[in-house]
Amino acid sequence: MCGIVGYVGKRNSQEILIEGLKKLEYRGYDSAGVAVYTNEGLQIKKSKGRLAVLESKLGEAPLAGHIGIGHTRWATHGKPSDVNSHPHTDNSSKFSVVHNGIIENYIALKEELIEQGHVFVSETDTEVISHLIASVYEGDIVKAVQKAVTRMRGAFALGVLTEYEPEKLVAVRLSSPLIIGVGEGENFIGSDIPAILEYTRNVYILNDGEMALLTKDGVTLMTLEGNFISREIFRVDWDIVTAEKAGFDHFMLKEIYDQPKAYRDTMGARIDESGSKVVMPEVRMTEQQIRNIRNVHIIACGTAYHAGLVGKSVIEKLARIPVETDVASEYRYRSPIITPETLVIVVSQSGETADTLAALREAKKNGARVVAVTNVVGSSVAREADDVIVTWAGPEIAVASTKAYTSQLIAFYLFGLYLGQTLGTIEPSYVSEVLAEMQQLPEKVEQILSQTGAIKEIAERIVAHKNLFFIGRGLDYAVALEGSLKLKEISYIHSEAYAAGELKHGTLALIEDDIPVIALATQEDLFEKTVSNIKEVKARGAQVIGLNIEGETELAKVADEVFSIPHTHQLLAPALSVIPLQLLSYYASLALGHDVDKPRNLAKSVTVE
Ligand code: G6P
Repeated sequence: MCGIVGYVGKRNSQEILIEGLKKLEYRGYDSAGVAVYTNEGLQIKKSKGRLAVLESKLGEAPLAGHIGIGHTRWATHGKPSDVNSHPHTDNSSKFSVVHNGIIENYIALKEELIEQGHVFVSETDTEVISHLIASVYEGDIVKAVQKAVTRMRGAFALGVLTEYEPEKLVAVRLSSPLIIGVGEGENFIGSDIPAILEYTRNVYILNDGEMALLTKDGVTLMTLEGNFISREIFRVDWDIVTAEKAGFDHFMLKEIYDQPKAYRDTMGARIDESGSKVVMPEVRMTEQQIRNIRNVHIIACGTAYHAGLVGKSVIEKLARIPVETDVASEYRYRSPIITPETLVIVVSQSGETADTLAALREAKKNGARVVAVTNVVGSSVAREADDVIVTWAGPEIAVASTKAYTSQLIAFYLFGLYLGQTLGTIEPSYVSEVLAEMQQLPEKVEQILSQTGAIKEIAERIVAHKNLFFIGRGLDYAVALEGSLKLKEISYIHSEAYAAGELKHGTLALIEDDIPVIALATQEDLFEKTVSNIKEVKARGAQVIGLNIEGETELAKVADEVFSIPHTHQLLAPALSVIPLQLLSYYASLALGHDVDKPRNLAKSVTVE
């Protein structure tokens, strides 16, 4: 987890590195650094803290040069500190390395290098790489990197420079993302496309086990064994402004407001023109293969896991296939029963989450077919899955996921309907009815987003509390879990999401005077039961903020206040009810003065297990 950027060309590399790193801060932001080849040789500047700290250091004493590498870190080996920041170098200071990922055998390598006389200054696994490359270097940096990599175990992406060949930048990818930007008289590397999009739209996406040699005049792609590769350039057709704040104060708020578009784009061509059928050519399973599915496992982490909980209800209801939803880090180690008749759905915004990727591999190893739901085309998850349902939410920068989550819900509705229509478990008229409602969701989200005042006011009130509850039944419970996670992630207020009917079996003991309870009651079938549970908390002094469907009048009689979402099909309610909860956590975080987009201790893309 970390961001890498690299440049070789005619321009001042420092500026390009810093601008690129700004676009990658979502990958980690506890320290940052750059190495630039200057008149005085390879020079490194790095510092603990946000990128702004490094930027001001470089402002006082710039590094002038036309080739460089940069890094923004999220600590794994060794605490955030100046010395643990990247780039790392060897004892001669002739080599410089930035790294994303983990070198699993770094301790053994380090011991070996120490025996050879190498002296280490940091606690990182990365420093081992620079020493290793230096120890095998015989005048050719590409060969030295290839040789060093054969000794390294783990997942990594690297950017490497040496003072001995100051016109060359070497990039390596093994299980951590890395792309190459191709310019005119200049070339780039980056952990992600936004890092280089300001300068070029022409990109090579490196695959696992591949590397590249970049000079200002060209890019040579090859395998780690040195076999040359020819590949077509991928032309990026989305705009840099979509990756920037577009006038909003925070990425999170922009991304909340991006949701109507994300819904439309994700539905896009997947609903046929007559509006009566789902078309999913990206799911290449034959009808027979679909008929053979005995059970479904949905695997994901964090917010994507919560989308998977909604996905479970949707698929079970529409396709009548049993579904289990698991947290990826648990799935792998619980000896799940996976057979070739199991369909595994992995859900990952980034497509790079290490836990999810490991679970995907476990599922494949056991013969399951894997469908990926991801927001990043060309991501690791997308490349390793059999079928890929892309959520067209566009880049999501804020650590707290919003539009990626709701686009995942849309993907589940579409896929559930697709399975149901193929298996004949739902009537064609039902499919048309749900699709018609789905197509109205973007407008209904816009309606919610046009009346944020009430939510803001509630948010400003709840921040005075140390604890909060979210309750709901059925799909409302799945959304309650997401609402609670969102609030914890960015406001740091403790909250707990509870299945409303389960409260009385324990947690009711924690309900005391004035404690805010956010009660979701959008599910008609479960409404009366939920109201009984609301009465239980009211009787213990809680202040209840209810969430219902427009036109419903009973909730107001038991709750202290009620926020209504527009009417929709019961199954689709999560795609609307989560919006006020996203806004609630946003305004709560804002009211408390927290860094909304970069909450403490969290990172957007977690590429370690
Ligand atoms: C991290 C992020 C979460 C995210 C989770 C899964 O923990 O902080 O916001 O939900 O990873 O990420 P993915 O990219 O796999 O959806």
